[in-house]
Parts: sequence; C-alpha cells; structure tokens
Amino acid sequence: MLGNFSYKNATKLYFGDDSLKYLNEELPKYGKTVQLIYGGGSVKKNGIYDAVVDILKANGKTIVEDSGVMPNPTVEKLREGVQLARENKVDFLLAMGGGSCCDYAKAVSVSVNCDDDPWEKYYIRFEEPDCEILPVGCILTMAGTGSEMNAGSVITNHEQKLKIGHVFGEEVMPKFSILNPKFTMTLPKRQMVSGIYDIFNHICEQYFSGEDDNTSDYIAEALMRSVIHSSLIAVENPEDYEARSNIMWTATWALNTLISRGKTTDWMVHMLGQAVGAITDATHGMTLAAVSLPYYRHIMPFGLKKFVRFAVDVWKIDPTGKTDEEIGNEGLQAMESWMKQIGLTMNITELGADESMIEAITDATIILDGGYKELTRDEVTEILRESL
Ligand code: NZQ
Ligand code: ZN
Repeated sequence: MLGNFSYKNATKLYFGDDSLKYLNEELPKYGKTVQLIYGGGSVKKNGIYDAVVDILKANGKTIVEDSGVMPNPTVEKLREGVQLARENKVDFLLAMGGGSCCDYAKAVSVSVNCDDDPWEKYYIRFEEPDCEILPVGCILTMAGTGSEMNAGSVITNHEQKLKIGHVFGEEVMPKFSILNPKFTMTLPKRQMVSGIYDIFNHICEQYFSGEDDNTSDYIAEALMRSVIHSSLIAVENPEDYEARSNIMWTATWALNTLISRGKTTDWMVHMLGQAVGAITDATHGMTLAAVSLPYYRHIMPFGLKKFVRFAVDVWKIDPTGKTDEEIGNEGLQAMESWMKQIGLTMNITELGADESMIEAITDATIILDGGYKELTRDEVTEILRESL
C-alpha cells in the first residue's frame, strides 16, 4: 500500500544549454549583496565564473567572493562562510559547482542568523532552523547529489571523524537551480562516473525497502534503466549532449523526494560510504561504489523478492528455470559488471582505507532501520572488511 504523504518541491529549475540566461529573471527577486560560492577553481577554468559575474554585475549586484569550498565541505569552512555572510550583510547565496557548493550554501543559509554553533545545532542535535534563512540559488556544474532540488546538506568534521547529512525542510531548498548539461562536460571522467554511481545509489537506497506494490518503485526502475543506458554512452563519449543531459535530469529526480513518497527507505550504503568518507575524505560516489556489493549481498536474503524484481526489471535477467537466489545473484553480478565497465572504484583499499581503520569507520557508521535488515555493529564491521 502506498503510505500517506504530502509532497511539494520548492525549487524552480531552468534546464538546458541556454539556461544560464534565466539568472537574469531570478536575481531581481533578491537583495543587493550576493555571496558567490564556488570550489577550487574549475569554474574559472571553464568560463562559468566569468559568465555568472557578468550577469551579477549587469543586475547591479555587489559580489562577496566565497571560494575554496572543498569536496566534502568541512565544518571549519562552514564557520568561515557564516562569518563572511554576517560581516558583509549578505542577502543571497549563489552556489556555483557540485553538491559540495550547494550543500555548503544551504548550511550557511540556516546559520547566518542563528547564534548556536551550526555543527552542534544541525549535525549533532538535528534541530530545525528557528531563525531567518537566507535564500539560496544554485548553478550546477556536476550531476550526482540531487542537492540542486533537495534540502539535504552534508558537512564533514575531520576532528570528530564524522560526516553527517541533515535533510532540512522545504524552506531550505534552493529557490532556483540552473542546470546546463554543457557545464558538466569539463568534469574529469572519474568525477563524472562517481556522480553517475551516486545517482544510481540514491535510487537503490529508496528502492530496496518495503515490499508493497508502490508506484515510486516503478519510477525508480525507469530512472535506474535510464542512468545505466546513458552512463555507457557518456563513458564512451563524454561530449554526448543527449547522454549528459539525461544523466543530469536523472540525478535531480533520483533525490528530489519524489521516489521516496509513500514508502520506507534504506540509506545504509550512504551511511557506510559517509563513514568511509569521514575517515579517508574520499570522493562521495566512489565510497558508495566500494561498499555497495558487500552490503547488497549481505542483505539480499532478507529482501529476496525485491532483489529478484531488480534483476528482472532493471538488469533484464531471464528468470526461467532459476531459483530466486540465482536470479538475485545474477542481478547483482550484472550490476557489478556495469560498475566495473564504467570505471568505478570497487574497494575501500583504493580509497585509502586499511584494516587499521575498520574500527574507526565502524564507529562513524550510523545504523538506520529502514532497509531489509537492521545491521548490528558486527555486521557493519564485516561488510567493511569485505569492502577492503
Ligand atoms: O572545486 P572545483 O574546482 O569546482 O572542482 C570540483 C570538485 O573537485 C569538480 N567539479 C565540479 N564541477 C566541475 C568540476 N570540475 C570540472 N568541471 C566541472 N564542471 O568536481 C569535484 C567534486 O565536486 P563536489 O561538489 O564535491 O561533488 P559532488 O557533486 O559529488 O558533491 C559531493 C558532496 O555532496 C554530498 C556528499 O556527501 C559530498 O559532501 N551529498 C549531498 C547530498 C544532498 N545534498 O542531498 C546527497 C548525496 O548523497 C551526498 O551525500
Ligand atoms: Zn549520495
């Protein structure tokens, strides 16, 4: 049965190779001082920075530069960004980049007018904002996280060895996001495939939970098929606009709250991956890829019916004459072949983890209960060892 739910998505999207021009329609809605958030400089190399600055100037905005947002943004950077926004009385936060810049902008947005320390308030105590929230806009340059149309914000605290995400309410979603698939074409291949697996796993996290006949799961299967198909084209030819645009659009729908409506969700691959990330600072999508197969093979017996459906409907495994276990295993084998084919990192050793870190990664893993099997601490350790 489809459970009861409410659904609203507060983000307006502009999609396509001419979408940046719509920044001109959005900027007049917000105040004069814009904190321009970006990462380590890719936007300067590929010209996006210059194009955005021209539009900001043409709209009479005062620009407050906030560069150097690192992949897996840290709590120290967040505190700096909050300070910058306060000192300059910033009215609007404009993020240019991938999930890291967009997540960071949201974290700043809920912290500028709040006296508490943001890490303690939002990432440890999981409180909701009780202060004025600055509006955020996003110009996306990497497809993967879905941050452009959701209220998630993930921050890393290296000192505490924790990487934690807070899913805020709709008031924290970007007011608008600009999605130009051409902007993603300068991504190094490794980042592109990392984003592709992030998309795929977001869908899996919402799919591998519950056994109801649920429309959300049918949508999830279609999205998975689309991302598998387009990924194979994009890996061969990263300049293929059709594939890159399909990947970008799928990323948004994979995690903009739609396919979790009316059902339970898992999210344990992300909990394991984020714990690996907290200790190694490895690329998000790769951390997910490296732990996925040991995790799914571990839980398959507890959700066998869904793994059979996944094998047949997503991977087109012929079920004739086979047991459910055989069909489920063939589905996961097909997934493994695809992951290797597109060039994902398949173990955490290559991400910098070793046996001596397993205890710390286990400690950093938050155990959720929405999947087919609530893991014990020992099972977390076992899955991590199998991921080495
Ligand atoms: O910093 P620059 O120089 O811009 O380079 C970035 C960065 O090194 C580069 N890049 C981005 N666009 C590019 C480009 N390089 C060349 N050309 C372009 N067009 O790519 C690198 C990675 O960027 P990043 O933003 O870190 O990647 P991603 O989009 O994967 O974001 C990862 C962060 O998002 C969080 C992750 O945990 C991680 O902290 N997530 C956020 C979620 C959400 N809001 O719902 C959900 C996800 O599961 C995820 O946890
Ligand atoms: Zn993710």
